[in-house]
Amino acid sequence: MEVKKVGVVGCGLMGAGITQVCAQAGYQVTVSEINDELLNKGLNSIASRLAKDVEKGKMSQQDRESILARIKGTTTTKDLSDCDLVIEAAVENLDLKKKILAELDKVCLKDTILATNTSVLSIIDIANATTRQEKVLGLHFFNPAPVMKLVEVIKTIATSDETITIGKEFVESLGKTAAICQDTPGFIVNRLTTPLMLNAVRMLESGLATKEDIDTAITLGMNHPMGPLRLLDLVGLDTVLSGVSDTYEELKDPQFAPPTLLKKMVAAGWLGRKTGKGFYEYE
Ligand code: 3HC
Repeated sequence: MEVKKVGVVGCGLMGAGITQVCAQAGYQVTVSEINDELLNKGLNSIASRLAKDVEKGKMSQQDRESILARIKGTTTTKDLSDCDLVIEAAVENLDLKKKILAELDKVCLKDTILATNTSVLSIIDIANATTRQEKVLGLHFFNPAPVMKLVEVIKTIATSDETITIGKEFVESLGKTAAICQDTPGFIVNRLTTPLMLNAVRMLESGLATKEDIDTAITLGMNHPMGPLRLLDLVGLDTVLSGVSDTYEELKDPQFAPPTLLKKMVAAGWLGRKTGKGFYEYE
């Protein structure tokens, strides 16, 4: 099967980024949101990100217009019915994702592949809401999606080899690299890197070093593009807290136990860049 039309459910940080990446690779994309306000916010973020690329001379104004013309926004799931592949990128809530996949299963063609961008939830649980478990897989993009080169392609015990091949080829058609892994909490990247982020919070909490020194040490000592506390601010403290809480619940591994400081910051609404305040302050 050849993927020509792509659907994206959710036009938040990740959904908008994934929509942009797919349209930039030449796909027709229909992106859905729950209301016009969120849809327009997401579409505007894509338009202004592309305008920055034009300003920097990375793309022509004509290319920007063609990319935007390939994107269609909607608030009706039925408008995704003619897509060959639909990527769900809603918030990390199992019941919500199951509801979305069940709806997609009803409206989409029988051959449509359904992917979830979850970073932590059990994909087989999400797939169970459909009648096509073999056509459900994980396509886990990284933030910011237009910049990050990796997409994890996740196989549940029920995903067919053909679906994984289509998923991998699709990722490559976006100019990205696929890493294939099994349906387990955190997959590869978050399973290995979350303990580093949480240990950075614990280190700050116990007063062993300042936030600036922790971030500088990892940036310069490990050649990471940004330190773990800045990265937490980028990803969103609420997203990380919800992800690690689920992983801890599943694995009972103390490495994933959420530190008190993280919980308190989320309770205070200090969620990182998106709220203007996390470990650092933002304009
Ligand atoms: N969308 C599109 N492009 C963006 C962008 C965004 N949100 N943010 C930055 N960029 C582009 C800029 O336009 C710029 O492009 P150019 O070099 O061609 O002009 C380039 O990225 C570099 O940006 P800046 O100069 O503004 O800033 P930096 O050099 O500090 O880079 C960064 C910013 C790309 C975010 C870099 O710091 C980085 O790679 N950080 C690590 C990100 C990371 O680890 N992400 C994974 C998070 S974990 C995750 O997503 C998993 C999930 O499950 C939670």
